[in-house]
Amino acid sequence: MSSEESPTTLLDLPVDLLLLIFPHLDAASFLSLTSTCKALHNSDFAEDSAYWSALVRNQFRVPNQPVVQNDGRRWKRLYKRMRTQSKCYAWGNDDKGCLGHSFDLPNLPGQRRPVMRRSRHLSCPSVMEGTEQLGIISDMQSGGWSTTILTSKGALYSCGVMDGLQFNQRRPPYMQQPKKQPTALIFPVGMPHPKDRYEPVTAIKQFSSGRSHILALSDSGRIWSWQDIELRGVHVKFVHHTLKEDGREKGTGVVKKVVAGWNKSVALIEGSGLVVWEPIRLSQEESETSDAALVLLSTVVPRTQYVDSAPHKTSDGAVEGQDVGEVQSFIVLEDTILFNTSLGKVFAAVITWTDTVQAVSEPVELSIPVKGDTTAEASFVTDIQGSFRNFAVFTKAGDVLTSEQDRIMPLLTNQHTNRRLFTRIPALQNKQVISLAFGDYHFHALHSSGEITSYGYEPQSCGALGLGGHGVPEGRLRGVQNRGIGGDGHLVPHAYTEGRRVWFEKEKQEWISFITSGGADPQEAAARVRMAIGSPGPNAQGEVSEWIEQEGRDWETKFGIRGQGEEDDGLGAYFALSVSAAGWHSGALVLVNEDMAERLRKAVEVPERAPIETHEDPAQPTAESSQAPSSTNNTLPTNASILDRAADWGRYFLGLAPYNVNDAAYDPNSAHLRTNATTNANEASQTQNFGASPRPGYKYIWADDHFPRLRLSDGTEMPGEVEFDEWRFGRPEWRLGWEDEE
Ligand SMILES: *[C@@H]1O[C@H](CO)[C@@H](O)[C@H](O)[C@H]1NC(C)=O
Ligand SMILES: *[C@@H]1O[C@H](CO)[C@@H](O)[C@H](O)[C@H]1NC(C)=O
Ligand SMILES: *[C@@H]1O[C@H](CO)[C@@H](O)[C@H](O)[C@H]1NC(C)=O
Ligand SMILES: *[C@@H]1O[C@H](CO)[C@@H](O)[C@H](O)[C@H]1NC(C)=O
Ligand SMILES: *[C@@H]1O[C@H](CO)[C@@H](O)[C@H](O)[C@H]1NC(C)=O
Repeated sequence: MSSEESPTTLLDLPVDLLLLIFPHLDAASFLSLTSTCKALHNSDFAEDSAYWSALVRNQFRVPNQPVVQNDGRRWKRLYKRMRTQSKCYAWGNDDKGCLGHSFDLPNLPGQRRPVMRRSRHLSCPSVMEGTEQLGIISDMQSGGWSTTILTSKGALYSCGVMDGLQFNQRRPPYMQQPKKQPTALIFPVGMPHPKDRYEPVTAIKQFSSGRSHILALSDSGRIWSWQDIELRGVHVKFVHHTLKEDGREKGTGVVKKVVAGWNKSVALIEGSGLVVWEPIRLSQEESETSDAALVLLSTVVPRTQYVDSAPHKTSDGAVEGQDVGEVQSFIVLEDTILFNTSLGKVFAAVITWTDTVQAVSEPVELSIPVKGDTTAEASFVTDIQGSFRNFAVFTKAGDVLTSEQDRIMPLLTNQHTNRRLFTRIPALQNKQVISLAFGDYHFHALHSSGEITSYGYEPQSCGALGLGGHGVPEGRLRGVQNRGIGGDGHLVPHAYTEGRRVWFEKEKQEWISFITSGGADPQEAAARVRMAIGSPGPNAQGEVSEWIEQEGRDWETKFGIRGQGEEDDGLGAYFALSVSAAGWHSGALVLVNEDMAERLRKAVEVPERAPIETHEDPAQPTAESSQAPSSTNNTLPTNASILDRAADWGRYFLGLAPYNVNDAAYDPNSAHLRTNATTNANEASQTQNFGASPRPGYKYIWADDHFPRLRLSDGTEMPGEVEFDEWRFGRPEWRLGWEDEE
């Protein structure tokens, strides 16, 4: 269409009609339409949220995010980025290979040879291996021992094992074997795989990872169930419900959504309501030969079959379930099912499943506490999310209320309790939270800014919070308090005021390593390091880690990367599209703007003034070459002992092994600064610097920075000789007693 010929005729059309035309255009036509004629080149049209969100969701199979549904600009930018930039990250405990990480790669800076880490965990996000060949990734979910991703072709891939407890396979090794690389989930013999050929029956539009099984819904409306990465998926059929598999979105028998819970399967079937059944477990032989499995035993959650468009009248003329409303979304926890309805209400019901009784109780409405604003709007529930024992409800007023299954149980079983049902974590209120993902003990919030924050705790310091660096002490500077070596990592109470973000930039990890090891002058900083991360009291740690948080939050602006270059779409170098968690691990789908990420990497490197002479033989690293990045100048500690000391300082105060001493050989009782070369040259070469220099001849821009020195909110002045540091965004008003507020 050219601007000379048709703009007037087109503009004569009423807006409503234009909006009806949009959905039929692909992105290229839509963009040329809105850019050819001026009147349409206006953000109302060019950034029409209905158009762009539908395009992203339909073309890339990205699940909807109700909180930002109306943000057209955001969807438009996502659309552009989705095509090339989606990457899968994972972190936490690598139980059975669920992080999709072989651990064969170097994982300390400057390391020359791959070394196996003693404990298999990642405390900061790492790209899952083998995901880049899979094309555009649309969704990602964590299971008990697995991580599963959905591609824009509708294909599912998993790594780890689906059921880590299953001992009953007939042949050795009797357990499901870990998949280190994402492995395609397969279908019965003869069914095309969506990675090879599109077929509505097998292309997956929505899936759900439970603790130990996966449920998926295909474009045609068929339910698939997997219990083992190696076995064929099972087509689920019911004795009591007939499913419509013609690809329609509405009508009796249409499956709206499937959710795999702790150990139950639930589907929302129009006309039936919420249908619950046990995950299907077939033997290898059965799965090879069967096309489908008929579920004999299923139950329906009472009063969930009401549909607004087709109210079903009972014999006495009443409309059944009208007071509940139409079920819109639901979650399945360990023993309960919760759902929100068209009336903006949320209900919960208890699952009882024994050999003799398989039933779900009458749903009970959960009352939503409102604060100040007492209009009905404030308590209108717009979303519900959760897994295992934790959940959250979102309200129209912007509140994000968290709770646990234990807290609602008395209400559901008619017992008296004075316990408050919901908690209002300050860092989640009016912070544009799109979704929450719950592991067993930790959880994450995804914010519309593309950032992820962490809460709860990580058992055995497994890294599930994603706030660590290359080792434990860096996590302390992010606000994690470890109860002993290998103990649980709890967040300082300060972390609940503004939230602590998961960092995807490698440079930030270098920076935090550098600061943790004492900064430019570890001796001057020693007392502060001890105060902030080497003492049990949370005050200094809480405030210093928040200061670090603010520096990290302002990273791109600080180094002049924001607002530069054509590629800056305002989404930042790393933009998280989704977050997931289960057990002791997490994952995120992140849109990485490589160009910006590279500029960020470059921006933090500065050349040393005097070039250094390298006389390295990579095969035979010497103790001397291990000091490689130091300059001939005095800007960096230049001799080995100072370098070692800087590196070990933070760990020393924490009673941890120095970086360059084998953990196993370390005796914390005789912890001392390493003043002589007790380690071999090879070990020393692995730890040549701690975030002061990226490579020989260059140093990081922060190489002269000191460990922060703050005036704390209780009036304490942190010791030292350097100037006091200022807060980038001001010191927050701490809400340390938030748990008791209401
Ligand atoms: C399902 O989980 C519940 C709660 O953990 C447990 O009591 C029950 O035995 C489990 N059922 C099966 C079949 O594993
Ligand atoms: C219920 O939750 C879903 C998403 O989980 C949301 O799309 C829907 O709009 C919610 N219902 C209402 C009435 O807000
Ligand atoms: C490096 O050393 C030279 C000479 O010793 C000195 O003039 C210069 O200021 C030093 N540079 C820095 C950054 O300290
Ligand atoms: C570091 O080197 C300088 C000069 O090379 C020397 O004077 C100093 O004693 C060394 N420091 C230590 C702790 O060995
Ligand atoms: C230095 O190394 C020697 C030989 O390995 C050892 O005997 C001595 O105890 C070490 N000194 C310190 C302070 O570690």
